Amino acid sequence: MVGPHELEREKTIAAQAAAREVEAGMTVGLGTGSTVAYLLPVLAARDLDIVCVATSGETEAQARSLGLEVVPFRSLGRLDLAIDGADQVAPDGWLVKGGGGAHMREKVVAAAAERFLVIVSSGKLVETLGPPVPLELLDFGVEATCARIGQVALRGVPPSPDGNLVADYLGPVGDARALAARLSAVPGVVEHGLFPPELVTEILVAYSGDVERRLVG
Ligand code: A5P
Repeated sequence: MVGPHELEREKTIAAQAAAREVEAGMTVGLGTGSTVAYLLPVLAARDLDIVCVATSGETEAQARSLGLEVVPFRSLGRLDLAIDGADQVAPDGWLVKGGGGAHMREKVVAAAAERFLVIVSSGKLVETLGPPVPLELLDFGVEATCARIGQVALRGVPPSPDGNLVADYLGPVGDARALAARLSAVPGVVEHGLFPPELVTEILVAYSGDVERRLVG
């Protein structure tokens, strides 16, 4: 476990490494969270001619305040690159995302991108994925949906930007692909925070003075 100063340093160098991947003319998906919050100023400082989409209101506000151009995602059919953090990174490239409740938009953005770069501090690496797995649930019938999922807790936070409820699956993860399929099959589950390796191009893992690059998809 690294200390708070070291953690900030890791987020900074992961963000710097990712910012170097962005080139003029690109369309770029911006994730959400504290690691992405380090990325945005570094990216803005490069002063490249790029067009961005944001996965949350927080990211959009920060990006705009730094002078980055952010457009509605309905205006672009694809993205060159998406960059985002993660809550857990498994050795086989599976991720858990959505600690900030933005996993649905994050998944849509990652899936639309030619390359999806994940930036994490070293503490995000896990041997096996575990709970909580964030969920976005339709408000309509949510009690019945939760009963079908089992071992789930609503977060009690404001609805997502898309009007859905944010919750966490608290049961065991085990086989991530099987759990992802089970969660996706429950009517009322709008999206879950398990991201398969096929979505991920590369994971940049920051240690105190260095960034390890893990090619995934
Ligand atoms: C947001 O909903 C999440 O998916 C974040 O990407 C994830 O929680 C990582 O956040 P930090 O960079 O703050 O750790």
